[in-house]
Amino acid sequence: MLVPIKPLYHLQLIPKTVNSKLAHPWNESSFYRNGRDALISGLLNFNLKKGSKIIVPAYICSSVTDHLKAFGYNVILIDINKELLLPINDIKKEIIKKNIKAIILIDYFGFLSAQNIEIAKKIKENHSDVIIISDRCHSAISCRNLNHDNIFFDMIMFSFRKSIPCHTGGALFPSTKRHNEVKFNTPNSQFFLFLMKNYFEKIILSIGWPNINSQHLRNFFSKIFNNFFLSVTEQYTAFSVKPKNLMLPKILYNQLANQSYLMKIKNLRLNNYYHLKKKINEVSINMPIEIGKLSAAPQTLPILDATGTLMDHLQKNGIGAYSWPNKEIPKEVAKNKKMYKNSNYFNKNIICLPIHQSIDNKHILKIGEVIDTWHAAKHES
Ligand SMILES: Cc1ncc(COP(=O)(O)O)c(C=O)c1O
Repeated sequence: MLVPIKPLYHLQLIPKTVNSKLAHPWNESSFYRNGRDALISGLLNFNLKKGSKIIVPAYICSSVTDHLKAFGYNVILIDINKELLLPINDIKKEIIKKNIKAIILIDYFGFLSAQNIEIAKKIKENHSDVIIISDRCHSAISCRNLNHDNIFFDMIMFSFRKSIPCHTGGALFPSTKRHNEVKFNTPNSQFFLFLMKNYFEKIILSIGWPNINSQHLRNFFSKIFNNFFLSVTEQYTAFSVKPKNLMLPKILYNQLANQSYLMKIKNLRLNNYYHLKKKINEVSINMPIEIGKLSAAPQTLPILDATGTLMDHLQKNGIGAYSWPNKEIPKEVAKNKKMYKNSNYFNKNIICLPIHQSIDNKHILKIGEVIDTWHAAKHES
């Protein structure tokens, strides 16, 4: 059995909810082609000039830092602490020393919203003019009231593809426009490629062969699909002068407008998370983030493995486990192991286990079995 790395799309969703209205927070958001464009649009909306300095946690994907640099911003990387948060003292020192204009706080994997709000509050006490961005790109399905959260932030940004199956989409809350009318675009080549990839994965998962979760095959297929995608969708390689507003694809709108569907995704992810966490606790594997009550549907269940052997064992046995941002960590962070010690440590040792909405009990049991065989082999050697 193969355990899928990400959720699969079901075509039945398309015609059902075309006339439904978007609910909170999406009825108060503006939409973009991805999370990065939402961020840039928000910064431009605050008239943040080229050359302005922005603090970004060093545990980040280079696509974000590259996008900021491409729009002329000066990225100041700071290492996160052992709780995956930016240390408040380091932030305060840098604000004064480097005339910082904006800060990004990341809710990694859908966790840490409450902790990042506390950090934002402390920054605002003395530096109310610094723009604080809440990066919630890892989970677009939240249990939080964003009107409340946004008291402490200047904007909240989202990306959809990590939470719901779609080929494009990012959002900014609150909306930067007065009248955020939703306009639809006609299905484009990107959409058809997304569907093609989705069905290709569905067929392989139902046959159970070949193991598309093995690193080798994953690299092979992602190269093929990415090359194909990029050749037909130039927009992802070329930086536009202004970030483009998104003409919402129906596939995304219909999922966002379907409240009971979103609630179902949230509940499935939370149930899977707690179910798998129980297993992880039984075999005494550590987790990087200790969470009481979850306030968003998590993207993944992150665990720590310092032996460096578990990831390979999971992937070889068909589990869609991955590390983040892996090779996409900014080059300056990867090169500077001392300065960005914790970011490099988490990049090397965190394993993201799948708990998304296409995972069910049999998948959780399979993940548990594979972890057990790894555990037994470790004790034998
Ligand atoms: C923490 C974080 N923020 C922002 C983004 C950007 O999202 P998008 O790929 O939709 O631009 C990513 C993407 O991986 C991310 O991991």
